[in-house]
Amino acid sequence: MNKGENVEVIDSAIDETANLGGCSTIIHSNLGEMCIVGKFSKVAYSSMGPLSYISDYSVVINSVIGKFSSISWGVTIGPEEHDYKRLTNHSFLYSLKAFTLTPHKHYSPFEKECIIGNDVWIGCNSTILRGVTIGDGAVVGANSLVNKNVEPYTIVVGSPAKVIKHRFTSEIITALLELKWWDIPVSVISEHTELFAAEPTMEIIETLKKLKSTVINKNQ
Ligand SMILES: CC(C)(COP(=O)(O)OP(=O)(O)OC[C@H]1O[C@@H](n2cnc3c(N)ncnc32)[C@H](O)[C@@H]1OP(=O)(O)O)[C@@H](O)C(=O)NCCC(=O)NCCS
Repeated sequence: MNKGENVEVIDSAIDETANLGGCSTIIHSNLGEMCIVGKFSKVAYSSMGPLSYISDYSVVINSVIGKFSSISWGVTIGPEEHDYKRLTNHSFLYSLKAFTLTPHKHYSPFEKECIIGNDVWIGCNSTILRGVTIGDGAVVGANSLVNKNVEPYTIVVGSPAKVIKHRFTSEIITALLELKWWDIPVSVISEHTELFAAEPTMEIIETLKKLKSTVINKNQ
C-alpha cells in the first residue's frame, strides 16, 4: 500500500493497491483494491469496496461502503450519538480510554451502522447520520445532512436532505440495479470505459450484461 507520513493503521486489512493520505487513521477496517483515504481522514470499524474513496478531512465510522463510491472532503458518515436521555451527555459513559470514571461502558454510541451502496457520490461537507442506508447510484449534494434512507439512483440535497430528482428513468434504473455493473472485474471495466462514459441506454446496459455473463462463465 502507498501511504503518506504519520499514517496510523490498527488491526486493518488494506489492499496493496490502496492509498492512504498523510495523517490518516484506519482502525479495524478493510480497504479493497485501489481504495483511497484522503489526508487527515479517519476510517474506523468500516469496510470500503474496490475503487471507493474518501477525500481529505472525512470521517467514516461503523459503515459498510460498496464499490466505486466517491466520497468528497469534509464528509462524516456514521457519527456517534451521545445518549442525551441519560443524566449526562458526556462521553465518559462509553469512552473508557479517554476518561477513567467508570470501568465499563454504559452504552455504545456506534450501534447502528451506515450502509453506503455502490457508485454513490457524496458531495463535500455532508453528514450521513448513524443507521442511514444510501442506495446504489445515489447522489448526496454538497453540504447536506442525510437523516433518512436514500433510494437507489436518487439525488438528495439540503438539511435535512430531500429528494430533488432521479438520475435516470425508472426503466434505466431498474436495469442498472439488475446489471450491478460494479461486480464486473475491474480489468474488464478498464477495457470498456467508453460504455461507462456514455449516458446509459438499454442498449448499453444489454451490452454490459452480455459482457458480465461472458466473464462470469469464463471464470466458472
Ligand atoms: C446535487 C448536485 C449534484 C445537483 O446538481 P444539478 O443536477 O446541476 O442541480 P440543479 O442545479 O438542477 O439543482 C436543482 C435544485 O436543487 C438545488 N440544489 C442543488 N444542489 C444543492 C445543494 N447541494 N444543497 C441545496 N440545494 C441544492 C438547486 O439550487 C436547485 O434549486 P431550485 O430548483 O430551487 O433552483 C449538485 O448541486 C451538488 O451539490 N454537487 C456536489 C458538488 C461537490 O460537493 N463536489 C465536491 C467534489 S466531489
